[in-house]
Amino acid sequence: MKIIIVKDYEKVSDKAFEIMKEVVSGNPEAVLGLATGTTPLGLYARMIADHEENGTSYARVKAANLDEYAGVGKDNPNSYAYFMRKNLFDKIDIKLENAHIENGMALNADAECKRYAELLANMPRDIQVLGIGSNGHIAFNEPGTPFDSVTHTVELAESTVRDNARLFDRIEDVPRKAFTMGLSEIMQAKKILILATGANKADAVYGMIRGEVTEQLPASVLRKHPDCVLICDEAAGSRLKN
Ligand code: GLP
Repeated sequence: MKIIIVKDYEKVSDKAFEIMKEVVSGNPEAVLGLATGTTPLGLYARMIADHEENGTSYARVKAANLDEYAGVGKDNPNSYAYFMRKNLFDKIDIKLENAHIENGMALNADAECKRYAELLANMPRDIQVLGIGSNGHIAFNEPGTPFDSVTHTVELAESTVRDNARLFDRIEDVPRKAFTMGLSEIMQAKKILILATGANKADAVYGMIRGEVTEQLPASVLRKHPDCVLICDEAAGSRLKN
């Protein structure tokens, strides 16, 4: 894994944007794997600004998101579908029918997982953007998820519910179940960009890079990927220095 440590969140976003821009400029039909969470917001803001200022077009780009809360509809402000529209899709020229995400309201969860897995199999991602959970999860692949997993539903770890509670009015409102892209599907992307910022990610980043490659720390699977770049700020990378 290539490791880039920069000063702060803004620099992480700048570097991530540089790599994203290279992919999209090089291939106007690129397929992007996108992530939610607060970490990629700076990247998305730069994609929007670049679209507005330089006309970089996403009209032929396709996107697939990592995960979605179960039981939360796409028009609910807490859904990841809503998050993506608000923070990126509504502000660039991507066609919404080309921007895919699991349907949190699917009545048959198994059928929905199968549908999404088939879709992913037919749209290999040129680049996958990832954040990392403080427990080392990627997407909603919690510790213990098999490396060969495909799209599945998951009971969220207590620590994830606590971490994500900051985005809800009350902790009781945080959904306990989610749909997530599996680890083997994440690994299929040609290039992976994992972003980590803030001191609360330092242990997960350290474990991912210096610990064992183990299903107990899902992000460690990325060490097996031939083209994965970690971009982190000094706080998240603090334990890598010694
Ligand atoms: C959620 C998402 C992950 C994301 C993580 C970290 O659990 N499912 O994809 O990486 O949060 O979020 P943040 O970037 O806000 O720290």
